[in-house]
Amino acid sequence: MSKINLIVTENYEEMSKKAAALFEELLKKKPNANLGLATGSTPIGLYKELIKLNKANEISFKDVKTYNLDEYCDLPKQHEQSYYTFMNENLFKHIDININNTHLPKGEGDSKINAKNYEDILKNIKIDIQLLGIGSNGHIGFNEPGTDFDIGVHEVQLTDNTIKDNARFFENDINKVPKKAITMGIKNILDVETIILVANGVNKAEAIKKVMSGKIDKNVPASALNLHKGKVYVIVDKEAASKL
Ligand code: GLP
Repeated sequence: MSKINLIVTENYEEMSKKAAALFEELLKKKPNANLGLATGSTPIGLYKELIKLNKANEISFKDVKTYNLDEYCDLPKQHEQSYYTFMNENLFKHIDININNTHLPKGEGDSKINAKNYEDILKNIKIDIQLLGIGSNGHIGFNEPGTDFDIGVHEVQLTDNTIKDNARFFENDINKVPKKAITMGIKNILDVETIILVANGVNKAEAIKKVMSGKIDKNVPASALNLHKGKVYVIVDKEAASKL
């Protein structure tokens, strides 16, 4: 059994709203919070909620700093599928954030240097809430199955499973999907204050079942959340919870 706080919602919209409420609560208490952000289709609804709350003047991002989990390697920053573009399109350009306060690992150029630079940035801060999605193989960020839990920012070789899953963003052509990425390590993720993992759809049910079993397994990177000392929320819709 896991000590993770599990919240099962009726549908995707409710999942997004529940997660947004936790961000709202934090930002009302701590307007200069450090937020760890994620990409993928799952958090889009949550970002829409945050945009709504910002436009209604319920929350402000004026003093917020953000740190993203990961970025594809060797994809131009301005590419429509880079995570840099994703964050701008789905969140940053719609809210009152200072763009200089947003951080993503750099995907272009020397990965060793980029990883060290991002690690140095993270070393000096504490993330208040880290948002996570989950891959169907249990990956978090781009920490693929088999990754050691004690490494920081690093370059990864994406698994065939992830390349296949993400091909939908690249005209369903696996050849167009980048084969490498740079990601926060599980060590960075476990260093944060609070973790919120969101998941929806039956495609994620098996991975969620493994995480919630409480068993720590290197081949299920998200199972590392069971090692976290702070709070962890797993917010899933009925379908992602269907194997629990
Ligand atoms: C990507 C990202 C992850 C994300 C996962 C799930 O590969 N690197 O951070 O959680 O895939 O994506 P989606 O939400 O689109 O299912």
